[in-house]
Amino acid sequence: MTGPEETMTDPLVRLDGIHVRHKARSGGILRRDAVHALTDASLEVRRGEILGLVGESGCGKSTLARVVTGLQRPTEGRVSFKGRDLWEMPAAERRTRFGASVGVVFQDPSTALNPRLPVRRILRDPLDVHARGTRAWREERVEELLDLVGLPGHTLGALPGQLSGGQRQRVAVARALALEPELIVADEPTSALDVSVRAQILNLLVDLRARLGLAMVFISHDVQTVRYLADRIAVLYLGRVVEEGAAARVTGDSRHPYTEALLSATPSLLERPERIVLHGPVPSATNPPSGCPFRTRCWKADDACAAAFPPASTAPDGHRWHCVHPQPAAEDAAVPATRAG
Ligand SMILES: Nc1ncnc2c1ncn2[C@@H]1O[C@H](COP(=O)(O)OP(=O)(O)O)[C@@H](O)[C@H]1O
Ligand SMILES: [Mg+2]
Repeated sequence: MTGPEETMTDPLVRLDGIHVRHKARSGGILRRDAVHALTDASLEVRRGEILGLVGESGCGKSTLARVVTGLQRPTEGRVSFKGRDLWEMPAAERRTRFGASVGVVFQDPSTALNPRLPVRRILRDPLDVHARGTRAWREERVEELLDLVGLPGHTLGALPGQLSGGQRQRVAVARALALEPELIVADEPTSALDVSVRAQILNLLVDLRARLGLAMVFISHDVQTVRYLADRIAVLYLGRVVEEGAAARVTGDSRHPYTEALLSATPSLLERPERIVLHGPVPSATNPPSGCPFRTRCWKADDACAAAFPPASTAPDGHRWHCVHPQPAAEDAAVPATRAG
């Protein structure tokens, strides 16, 4: 269903200047520091694309997933769905229209699925809640979903605990697809799985995207996995998007030193001149450094980096990065960049 103000050129989801501050879990009653989980993050998810989101543990990936799926209302900033402000929508519409359009797959299928319900009920539940079709149609849809994720029919009677980790994650994917969403957000969907089944789940997601024309936000701390799947990549560091663009550009012509360090730390097909080893811990999100948050670990950092978070530099193809001392452009892609506020 399309609203009157919707146009096909609007991205599916757009985040503008998103801040999420949590109350710190520690700190006692008198001193409640804020955790800066996301700071001024702007991104868009376009129809049919896979947007990869990468960064170290604690950088705000799951918080961003929760914002994109409407589970977390940002402290500041605007979330729009097909051009409409998500948090200005009446709550009922947010639940029905937006809720049905976005499916979520979490990291750990053993906690994401109700252990007391058989697979049949787990898959039927969203259809029941959204009162889709007749009862017979819903039963049929459940079988279709099972088929879509490559599980045999007898799984319907099983409890999650009777399935393998990979099978459970297939059930979680099927449940996310139940309402025919336009977007799937998958938050580290393979991190809790055995290495041997990870590729199967990744291939399932790629295959479903192709068959169903879905958009996907794929989150991982592993840049090589993200590079394998994504059309576009956003790199997160301590709550900030530090680089974003077409996957080939972000990985083949990375301009932010942090992206370069992530890529150089994992084996890849591309030859990198030297391995960059980052020293020191990720700073606390309760008290992030001034200016560029990466400067405390960056080999290029100087006083200029402490002054302010660097404005975006943008190449004509939309590749953007926030850095005072960016990596040199790849020779075959030397294009002038413009700086913006
Ligand atoms: N509910 C919460 N209360 C307090 N702090 C939180 C909460 N959720 C996340 N955080 C903090 O916010 C930061 C980002 O967390 P998260 O989005 O889970 O990162 P990631 O998924 O990249 O590991 C971390 O410092 C984390 O400890
Ligand atoms: Mg996470």
